[in-house]
Amino acid sequence: MPTPRRIAIDGPAGAGKSTIGALVAERLGYLFLDTGAMYRAVAVLALRKGIHSENEHDLAAVARESRITIGPPTKRDGRAYTVLVGGDDVTWEIRDAAVDRIVSQVARHPQVRDVMVAEQRRLGARGRVVMVGRDIGTVVLPDADLKIFLTASAHERARRRGEELAARGDVRSREDLLHEILRRDQLDSERVVAPLKAAPDAVVIETDGHTVGEALQHVLRVVAERSK
Ligand code: CDP
Repeated sequence: MPTPRRIAIDGPAGAGKSTIGALVAERLGYLFLDTGAMYRAVAVLALRKGIHSENEHDLAAVARESRITIGPPTKRDGRAYTVLVGGDDVTWEIRDAAVDRIVSQVARHPQVRDVMVAEQRRLGARGRVVMVGRDIGTVVLPDADLKIFLTASAHERARRRGEELAARGDVRSREDLLHEILRRDQLDSERVVAPLKAAPDAVVIETDGHTVGEALQHVLRVVAERSK
């Protein structure tokens, strides 16, 4: 069998999807698409334009009308990709604590998801893509050639997120991060449309106690097995 052309990686906040997804894509020479960055960009727009996170209609309109693009890094400042909103670079702004606080409410709305999913499917249709998110294997690319569900305990995920943010000078308390992660897990798992869950045919990879390098090797082994 050839190497899987469309690889879906899902999992909760801080499980390492983005780091590992980007590395897998680089290794295979595939496009990497972090769909969480798209929902985060809509949250940035909501904050900038003063749209309430419950206002589904206006959020969907802004998602539809503002050109959200994710492309190769335009600066060498540690970014894995550049996120533009109407030409404006929001690559770091999408990681602000204010965005963490509202992004799951913004992503809960079916009309917002419809706009995002249409764009994600358009990008996925060309193949040779690693797409990461919450609903890639279940909704966006249900016929992906390989589905991975990456997970870890909430404590471990809060620890990793803390280190990642501290490396960029954004120091937040471990308790706040754990609280934030548990709150987002709950919102993402309990929403009616496209909840966070492993697809029945996903390979579940637990990463507690494993380094990024080990988890990456695990994923690459699964890719290699599927290519035989
Ligand atoms: O990086 P982190 O794991 O913290 O989150 P993210 O992947 O950037 O996603 C941020 C939020 O966007 C999630 O908590 C979800 O609410 C939402 N999201 C989603 O609903 N569906 C996706 N495919 C990706 C993200």
